[in-house]
Amino acid sequence: MIQEAIREQPVPATGGTELFHVIDPRVFERRLLDELCDLTTQVRTVAKSYAGARLLQELLLNRRAMFHFTQPSTRTFLSFNNACHVLGIRTSEIRDPSTSSEVKGESFEDSIRTFSSYVDLIIMRTHSPGRAAQAARLMDTIPRPVPVINAGSGSDQHPTQALLDIYTLDRSFSERGGIDGKIIGMMGDLKRGRTVRSLCYLMKNYADVHLVFIAPEQFAMQNDVKHHLEEHGIPFRETEQLGKVLPELDALYVTRMQSEWDKADECPAVDFRRFSVGTKELRMLKPEAIIMHPLPRGPELDPAVDMDPRAMYWRQERNGMWMRVAVLLKIFRMESRIQDLDLESFAAQHGDKPLVS
Ligand code: CP
Repeated sequence: MIQEAIREQPVPATGGTELFHVIDPRVFERRLLDELCDLTTQVRTVAKSYAGARLLQELLLNRRAMFHFTQPSTRTFLSFNNACHVLGIRTSEIRDPSTSSEVKGESFEDSIRTFSSYVDLIIMRTHSPGRAAQAARLMDTIPRPVPVINAGSGSDQHPTQALLDIYTLDRSFSERGGIDGKIIGMMGDLKRGRTVRSLCYLMKNYADVHLVFIAPEQFAMQNDVKHHLEEHGIPFRETEQLGKVLPELDALYVTRMQSEWDKADECPAVDFRRFSVGTKELRMLKPEAIIMHPLPRGPELDPAVDMDPRAMYWRQERNGMWMRVAVLLKIFRMESRIQDLDLESFAAQHGDKPLVS
């Protein structure tokens, strides 16, 4: 049976701007992040025409991916699944471990090795942290290793969410100097929110970024992330007063209370209404600021905010699929097939029937 795993050090990327396993955001450098953001935009431009969609769909027709999602997911599962389909990758899945031979006592290692016998990529979401890293390490010891993607590991890390968050920030600030120099607020259950933890790790790549953590004391950002920020000279502040910091923020990243990790009803013991966004908070936010949320949302984000042009979370969600297409292209070293396209002449030659993108 699958055993408990603990937080682990990142499995290094293969070096440079190449990608193989995607386990821990700490291995991502600015050059790779910029390349992924550009590639994401190029892919979604190509996908707008039938000819482009066909081109994308033939790039990885010879590849198969396997989803091992033993913790619930809507967005990550669907966006990766559709990202695979955009590129012609065929997919299979185990979402309920009670339907796999793990219930017969098959070890974690044997299960992962078995998956790798049939597919070219394993995408994993797990309840426990460290499992994807463990799978990646195993892959590195066998004759036919396949890449492993961490699609959310317990309350620890969610690296591809952080990539799509970077893309959303980069795109939103494209007319204002990009992410460099921005003040980014992160609010909610920062202690157990893997999305904000991973996003913090990527911030070392951007100059003069200031972070503001807005959380109840019981759910403050953990020391491992704070130490990382200190090591990389990234200034951060902590507050419980949203109203005091709202006017200075360029982005507010809202997260829900992660009650699924409660051991003794920690969430009901805290008044989270102070850590929510509604129409009153919108009036205090800069006109050009953006509001992000990894979703799903809880009461911390009033649906009335959806109508505000600063609400970026539905675009953020869609950005996730395109960023994951870019990640898959990098893993299978097919990015140059898109990067080398002359997009203008391709559009002129094939811009027959635009698709919605
Ligand atoms: N943002 C995110 O990870 O959503 P899901 O849990 O629905 O995949």
